[in-house]
Amino acid sequence: MIKLHDKYFKPFISSQEIDAAMQRLATDIANDVGDEIPVFVGILNGSFMVVSDFAKKYPKPCEVTFIKLASYEGVKSTEDIQRLIGLTQDLTGRTVVILEDIIDTGNTLAEVHRIFENEQVKSLKIATLFYKPEAYKKDFKLHYIGIEIPNKFIVGYGLDYNGLGRNIPEVYQIKETQYMTNLVLFGPPGAGKGTQAEFLKTKYNLVHISTGDVFRFNIKNETALGMLAKSYMDKGELVPDQVTIDMLNAEVEKNSGAKGFIFDGFPRTNAQAESLDKLLESKDSAISAMVALEVDDEILVKRLLSRGKTSGRVDDADESIIRNRIKEYYDKTAILKDYYSAQNKYYGVDGVGSIDEITLRLDAVIKNL
Ligand code: IMP
Ligand code: MG
Repeated sequence: MIKLHDKYFKPFISSQEIDAAMQRLATDIANDVGDEIPVFVGILNGSFMVVSDFAKKYPKPCEVTFIKLASYEGVKSTEDIQRLIGLTQDLTGRTVVILEDIIDTGNTLAEVHRIFENEQVKSLKIATLFYKPEAYKKDFKLHYIGIEIPNKFIVGYGLDYNGLGRNIPEVYQIKETQYMTNLVLFGPPGAGKGTQAEFLKTKYNLVHISTGDVFRFNIKNETALGMLAKSYMDKGELVPDQVTIDMLNAEVEKNSGAKGFIFDGFPRTNAQAESLDKLLESKDSAISAMVALEVDDEILVKRLLSRGKTSGRVDDADESIIRNRIKEYYDKTAILKDYYSAQNKYYGVDGVGSIDEITLRLDAVIKNL
């Protein structure tokens, strides 16, 4: 990780990957240009490294020139593009290829097109090393693209954050550190997980993601992922983890302003726990704790049997079914307890007592995370 001014950046694209992309650009463009002597126009400042490395890889005679535009303030693109140095040579009849370091909103590119509007060039092509498709708002065709990247701010290889970072040979991506409280909530049947989830949600402003609810929502609304999940369920097959993770990802993205999440019903396996870690890592976040309500089996059995009398839930009426559900819970969660214990993230909370007492215990754990 590196720090430039007030922000942190993490390694994103290696110099080998950049080199390979630059080589592809040079080869593709050389093939298309044929025997013409092209004029490559770099857009300063950012493109100085792209132009330099590109020119060295270009296998045939060419000319190189620059124009200088400025649009960025800090980490935001602005509409207001300043033309600092315009074209300094006549390009009438020439084959022109613009070399950009990055195309983001396309505002700079619009200005480039305005500059060339009245030039009688033979052809004008656009090449860019990096391209952020989610940010691009224009219709101009991009003829050559090195690497497509997500809509996050990057530095290095000519790109700067308020002046710094241009000299770094590889590319770093901004780390949007959000301090989130992400809990994996566990509790055997009858432990009062639902009640406590409700409390945590309100008190800490967390979003409760119950995998069961997420599945039902996606299937009911016939989302692409819901249909995909259903296709497996209809065949009596397990829904692949990746489908579940994609659904959870959609939930997390829907709530991008959340202070954190309570994951309920997921993960169930080591592989799922690893996928969840990766998902959160991609959001520059992590699981803060696995919180498991611990209640003695005999107490659970009693609680569930008495709940069964009023709720009418068949699975709460039969003692051997109840014992089986409890056993299954321990069989399944033991692996996760190990997984999170190894990261010092396992917190067992005594789930015997009044609702308020248990709430206080949970509160104490989360406050100290
Ligand atoms: P656009 O006008 O929004 O397409 O932005 C193009 C210019 O903004 C580039 O030439 C860069 O100077 C700058 N820029 C866009 N995205 C980034 C980034 O992620 N890091 C650093 N500079 C960027
Ligand atoms: Mg630029």
